[in-house]
Amino acid sequence: MSKKKVAVLVGSLRKESFNRKVANQLIQLAPDSLELELVEIGQLPHYNEDLELNVPKEYTEFREKIKSFDGFLFVTPEYNRSVPSALKNAFDVGSRPYGQSVWGGKPGAVVSVSMSAIGGFGANHIVRQSMVFLNVPMMQQPEAYIGSAHTLFDESGNLVNEGTRDFLKAYIDAYAAWVNNF
Ligand code: FNR
Repeated sequence: MSKKKVAVLVGSLRKESFNRKVANQLIQLAPDSLELELVEIGQLPHYNEDLELNVPKEYTEFREKIKSFDGFLFVTPEYNRSVPSALKNAFDVGSRPYGQSVWGGKPGAVVSVSMSAIGGFGANHIVRQSMVFLNVPMMQQPEAYIGSAHTLFDESGNLVNEGTRDFLKAYIDAYAAWVNNF
């Protein structure tokens, strides 16, 4: 069976992002059937339909890149009980021009990571809401709300919480099974 290529989009742009650290853990823990690749989103200009008249190269490169994947894994913080604008912007850029969305029909999943105990529940479900319209079938279970993110890593960025590692391994294995349904 050939490997399924999965784009990993991280909703935080900061260098020491806990979400990026969790995304890197998921990449390391993924089974052989998946090939996960981080796709950057911070370079995308704010979506503006006027730009479709003279499409920025960042939009074109992003859209072409996203088309090459078999599935999507979103790893995101919660900003003000919603999804960070950088990630929403990436959804919007990939969804246009009208009728040419690069998202549809491919299996997705979302992990939210927060310093709070609620684990980014709001952002997690707002990603799911957009994916309904973008026709990305999202893995329902297990759900992943990773709270207290600042306690999970040591100063070198290593995951030091065994329970979280076990959970992330089970999560990425479940996602691999989900991707193989398509
Ligand atoms: C936050 N944070 C936050 N946390 C949360 O659980 N719910 C929220 O609504 C918000 N709102 C929020 C808004 C903004 C503008 C910032 C910068 C932060 C805190 C957030 O969980 C924390 O900063 C995480 O560490 C962000 O993820 P990264 O950057 O570490 O991946």
